[in-house]
Amino acid sequence: MTPNRRNNSLLLTLFLLCPLWGVASTVVVDESDPEVRRDIGDRFGPGSGGSYFAENGMVTSSSNQATFAGVEILRAGGNAFDAAVAVQMVLSVTEPYASGIGGGLFAMGYNAQSESVFALDGREESPKAFNASRFEDSRGKLIPFSKRISGGNSVGVPGTLAACVTLLQKHGTMSLAEVCQPAIRIAYEGFRIPAPFAANLAHHWDRISQFPKTKELFSRPDGSPLQEGDLFRNPDFAATLELIVKEGESVFYRGQIANDIVEAVQSSAVQPGILTLADLERYRPVNRLPVATDFGPYSVYGMPMPSSGGATLGLMLNLVQAYGIDDLQWGTADTFAVLIDIQNVAFADRNFYMADADFVNVPIDGLLDPDYAASRITLVDPNNPPATPIAPGTPTGATTPDNGDAINAESPTTTHFCIVDKDRNVASITSTIEQHFGSAVLVPGRGFLLNNELTDFSGRATDRDGVPLANRPTAGLLPRRSALGEDATTLGAKRPRSSMSPTIVLKDGAPYLAIGSPGGSRIIGVVFNALLNSLVFDFDLQDAVNAPRVISRNGTPEMESPLYRNEALRTELSERGYPIVDAQAAGSVQAILIQENGWLEGAADPRREGLALGY
Ligand code: GLY
Repeated sequence: MTPNRRNNSLLLTLFLLCPLWGVASTVVVDESDPEVRRDIGDRFGPGSGGSYFAENGMVTSSSNQATFAGVEILRAGGNAFDAAVAVQMVLSVTEPYASGIGGGLFAMGYNAQSESVFALDGREESPKAFNASRFEDSRGKLIPFSKRISGGNSVGVPGTLAACVTLLQKHGTMSLAEVCQPAIRIAYEGFRIPAPFAANLAHHWDRISQFPKTKELFSRPDGSPLQEGDLFRNPDFAATLELIVKEGESVFYRGQIANDIVEAVQSSAVQPGILTLADLERYRPVNRLPVATDFGPYSVYGMPMPSSGGATLGLMLNLVQAYGIDDLQWGTADTFAVLIDIQNVAFADRNFYMADADFVNVPIDGLLDPDYAASRITLVDPNNPPATPIAPGTPTGATTPDNGDAINAESPTTTHFCIVDKDRNVASITSTIEQHFGSAVLVPGRGFLLNNELTDFSGRATDRDGVPLANRPTAGLLPRRSALGEDATTLGAKRPRSSMSPTIVLKDGAPYLAIGSPGGSRIIGVVFNALLNSLVFDFDLQDAVNAPRVISRNGTPEMESPLYRNEALRTELSERGYPIVDAQAAGSVQAILIQENGWLEGAADPRREGLALGY
């Protein structure tokens, strides 16, 4: 099987030139239409998103300063992993509402020297004593999600710093001091608040205002929220990074900063938490075996549990192959219907089985067996869609003590960045503090926010029938089942299920594409759309990133407005049984493709601030 390569831009343009086009003609939208583009992105004005071509190295991220810092490190001789840590540290300054050292990340990498793909799990983990009762009020009633997200109770042990240090030590060439320099400089000197930052701040101001220290950091002198164009400095964070550089990560996990984190969590005026110094001290990032899916000449590598991203994406790609790639054509009602069904079928298993595999049995081999996809594809019928929610299947290896789960209300925040260096090392990293502004708890005097990642667990331990949920919070420690063996003796607490899908694609064994996106549980569908646009529908990379997306999570299918507004398409799909709803801009993809001539093509999504830049 070889994914077909068509010139879709030409095809779409031809159909648009036909005045009678509509669903009967099946091609329904020209994603290069300026109207469509304005609606997808450009929400934040010129400069948001766009492509860049370069020969040596490339960085794409959702923050201009972070991209500049990454390129600065590459130009100074650093590799992709050195640059990745620099980018992450700058993002902690310039997008403090989306990621940072108070949160967690998943890093996929291709190491050019060992010619291998690796997966590094820097996910937050729960305090050892955390269980589902922590989400209940004094009468045993589930605390609403809108309340669970704020305050110390939802804070997981942050993994970002430990993962960055591991990345640097195992794969990098520079010191922590060198790669932290750009972030320290920007945090001291400040930068002008861009539109997305100001918009997020305004939107979340009521929540932020419950936390005086957090409010103070993001306020003008008169106490109102910082506005677009205001200078934002964070000297506390600069000093925190300087301390970490001087004393090492131990100061964060065992020293003064650890004390401050525990104090901030336990004394939170809003829902105090139970995180202890022992929880911080125990934390280790975990080297995991990536999820690999063959897709024609491509091998698609994704993040394994506790992220559901790699396995769900792999299952979707297997379902595409089982359906027949040659039968798909972007822009047709048939294809959108198939993509909806495939996402629903994959999410049925994702919601049911996937969680921290150190704690529950996730039948990963069975789920990713092409024969399993062949059995599940019988559910897909673009003229007669299966009713949702679709029931999960029974892949080989499935056991049933841990199952049954509804989708979590995961936040659309988070951030993704990609880097390729001159030696063709590749980094594809998705990083988060969960909700915008995380738990909204700022570590006083340290200038960083703590995550609310524990809300990515199921709120309840069991479903309505009393069946335990795979992704329930579970107290206690279990041995880490690192595929690489080196962590076999490490005991860890449970990590909440994620949807983050940092992805690396090899073509005929060589690095070809790095891609990923923020977007909560929509991340998987967002990456699935963009990946198919590039690998199957043959869009240029930027078009693959920009094209309006169709997302479905075993429920109501969502189409981004340029598709949703096409009445003929919507009517046709609705008559077939697809009740489409309008989607806000979904995700914000960052991608880098290594072209056949060796040049690098970077693409940043216009749906959010973002910059692709190389040299
Ligand atoms: N908190 C977003 C995710 O982990 O998918």
